[in-house]
Parts: sequence; structure tokens; C-alpha cells
Amino acid sequence: MKVLVIGGGGREHAIVWKLAQSPKVTKLYAAPGNAGISRLAECLPIKAEDIPQLVDFARKTHIDLTFCGPEQPLVLGLVDEFKRAGLTVVGPDRAGARLEASKAYAKQFMTRLGIPTAPYEIFDNPQAAKAYLRHRAYPVVIKADGVAAGKGVVIAQNLEEGLRTIDQIMIAKIFGSAGDKVVIEEYLSGQELSFFCFTDGTTVYPLASARDYKRSHDGDKGLNTGGMGSYSPNRFLTSERENEIMERIALPVIRGLQMDSIRYQGILYIGLMLTPQGPQVLEFNVRFGDPETQVILPRLKTDLVEVLLAIAEHQLQKVKLEWIEDPTVCVVLASGGYPQSYEVGKPIFGLEDLNSEDSWIFHAGTAYKRNPDDPTGPPHLVTSGGRVLGVTARGKTLEEARAKVYKTITRIHFDGMHYRKDIGSIEY
Ligand code: AMP
Ligand code: GLY
Repeated sequence: MKVLVIGGGGREHAIVWKLAQSPKVTKLYAAPGNAGISRLAECLPIKAEDIPQLVDFARKTHIDLTFCGPEQPLVLGLVDEFKRAGLTVVGPDRAGARLEASKAYAKQFMTRLGIPTAPYEIFDNPQAAKAYLRHRAYPVVIKADGVAAGKGVVIAQNLEEGLRTIDQIMIAKIFGSAGDKVVIEEYLSGQELSFFCFTDGTTVYPLASARDYKRSHDGDKGLNTGGMGSYSPNRFLTSERENEIMERIALPVIRGLQMDSIRYQGILYIGLMLTPQGPQVLEFNVRFGDPETQVILPRLKTDLVEVLLAIAEHQLQKVKLEWIEDPTVCVVLASGGYPQSYEVGKPIFGLEDLNSEDSWIFHAGTAYKRNPDDPTGPPHLVTSGGRVLGVTARGKTLEEARAKVYKTITRIHFDGMHYRKDIGSIEY
């Protein structure tokens, strides 16, 4: 089978790595991929959002299965277009992807179905949003309605910060049209949990759980990022809690979508806060998490191609998911300055011979670059993004996995490299 993976981050490297182990796969392509992915798949110079070119390539090359990593192509209707062209693709269509594309829609959908989530109000008028903020208890959470690269959520500590946030999102439009509306919701405290399901629109299977660390610095300090590390399984997920999340949240979501004539196929990612009142939904995503995928897929025994084909054929009930018990940890090595501005093009040293049976380097923002002084020499691996590498290991215990990851990191270096030292240890 020829398989195409869309995207080019650490998540997609982990997906390509897992797919490459399937005996069913004869050739892998990635669009656009990255330096690490290029060792396992042919990387195409096509952007993940360039749907017409992707369809054209998949048709001409007779791609048997396409799987999309990031949300943007799904939100833009990639799945609708691939299906229209008669191609096999796994992911929700544009209607299903609204769960991530509009936080206002997702909140209204949850209210309609009685799914636990923080109380909220939706505003399309900045004056009305500000008037509402004057009567709130703080902190309060303000969310731009649309997709804002994971940066559209602000936890305002006081009225002044709240008013400023409304100005930035709704008037200065720092997230563009994603800020045409805002959701203002109650602040929840508790433990965060990333909960993933595979679904073919009818059958819903939970995946191994994970914890994502969103803040840039140790002790959960600093700015929100795409994720600085992860571990699996999440130690706060008991089997009773998992059942509760399935019964009260995951299954009702899929049934609710069915009632709205949306057959959701692919991955449903439920961001949860475990509060004293039970699990509450923070957000839905319509794709795998990054860097949660880097810790979940190394624990999946089942062939991922088999799972994806079963989803495409509405036969997920025929597949049994099997997991490796041993926990995994992933630590992200980021460029100096990330998540704010950072430089790229820094040579990366020390990656030779680091992959082993239970330890992997997943590439995110990496590229090969030729030295202009030696144009015929071998290209060098350089940084090309904010999150550069995800160092992952599996161990008999979480401590063992952690120790392996941090030992591996001592061998890697690039100018400005920074990472969290507390992934998988103490909880915040
Ligand atoms: P979201 O993109 O909606 O998941 O929000 C990003 C991050 O903001 C979450 O991972 C939480 O850390 C935080 N967050 C979102 N909503 C709330 C809330 N209602 N209460 C507390 N923290 C929240
Ligand atoms: N790690 C958070 C996300 O993928 O959205």
C-alpha cells in the first residue's frame, strides 16, 4: 500500500515511524515532512494546506490511504475533497472539524448534549464582552472562537487584563478572524488530561492516555506553548475515570454528531480538566496531539494501518487495540526564545546512533541545509522551527523512561536549545 501523511512536525514523524512498521506499507510519502521524516518517507514540496495539489498528487500516484496530522487541512475540508475524488482518507470532514474550528460551536454543542464543561457566555460584540467582564470573579478564561495556533486562550487574572484581552482579540484582531467571537468561561482548577479516541462514527475506542505540559518553563511557569513534553499513561486516569469519560463525554459526542448527520471518522482529542466535580471538557481537537502522539504511538502494539483502514471502512469494531504496559516520556527540545521569536538554521549535533529499541528521536522543526562554503559536501541537520526535537523513551517505570530521556538529551546540542527538566516528575 502507498500511504500519504500530511504534516511535518514531531507528531507526524511519530505517525510515519509507526506506519513504517506495518507490513502492509510498501511506500510512504509525507507532505511536507521534515528532515527526520525524510529517512522513512519521500517528502513532497507540497504544503499541508494546499488541498488541490494534495488531491492531484494522491490521484496521480494512486495513494491507497491518506492520514492528516494537523487540524488546519481538516478545517479547510481536506477530507471532503479527498472523498469527492474517490480517495481513501482518515479524518473528520469539515462539518466534524468544526468541533475544533469554533469554540463557540463546541460549547453550544456540549450544552445541548449536557456534556460537562465550564459555564460560559459567547460574544461577538467587544462592548458587551467588556460589560460582562465587569461582573465576573477572577481569574476568568477568554478564548478566541477560531483556530489560533494554540495561542487563543488567555487566563485573565483581573478585570484590567480581561479588558485588554478583549481589545487585542476583538479589536486589534491579533488572531485575525478567529477573534470575531470570543467565549468567556469560568476558570477550572484540577489536573489536565489529554484523552484520545479512535472512532469510525459509530464505534469509539479510547487510546492510551497522556499528559501534555503546555507551559514553557519548569514548574508550569512561563508562556503557553504547543507542548513542551508529555508522558503516558497519565497517572491520574483510573479505569473508573476512563469509563466515566467514555460514558459522559466521548460516546455522547459521537452520538450527538450522528444526530446532526455528521459521521465523524478519525481521532477525537478531548482536553479535560479533572475537577473535584468530575471531568470537564476544556476543548475538543479533531486530530492527534503534539507531543502526546510521540508517547502514545510507541505504546501501541496494533498495526496503525489496520486501525486506519478499519476507520475508513466503518469496521472499527473488528479491530482490537493492544498496548504495551511500559510508560513513555517525551521531552521537547526547543529553540532559544520559543514560544516567542527565535532564530533558525542552527546546526544540530549529537543525534548519531541515538535511536534504540526503546528510545527515539522524533523530529519537529528540522531541515537539511548545505554549507555554502562546501556546496558539494553532505547537507547538515539544522533547526527550522520553534519545537525542534522530541526525545522519547519507554521504560519499565516512568522514572526509568525519564532517566533514559534526560541521559539522551545530554548528548544533543544546538545553539539556544532549551527544554523542561520536570516532564513526568512532579505534577502541577
Ligand atoms: P484550550 O485550547 O481550550 O485547551 O486551552 C488551552 C489551555 O488553557 C488548556 O490546556 C488549559 O491549561 C487552559 N484552560 C482552558 N480553559 C480553561 C478553563 N476553563 N479553566 C482553566 N484553564 C483553562
Ligand atoms: N499538545 C496539545 C495539542 O496538540 O494541541
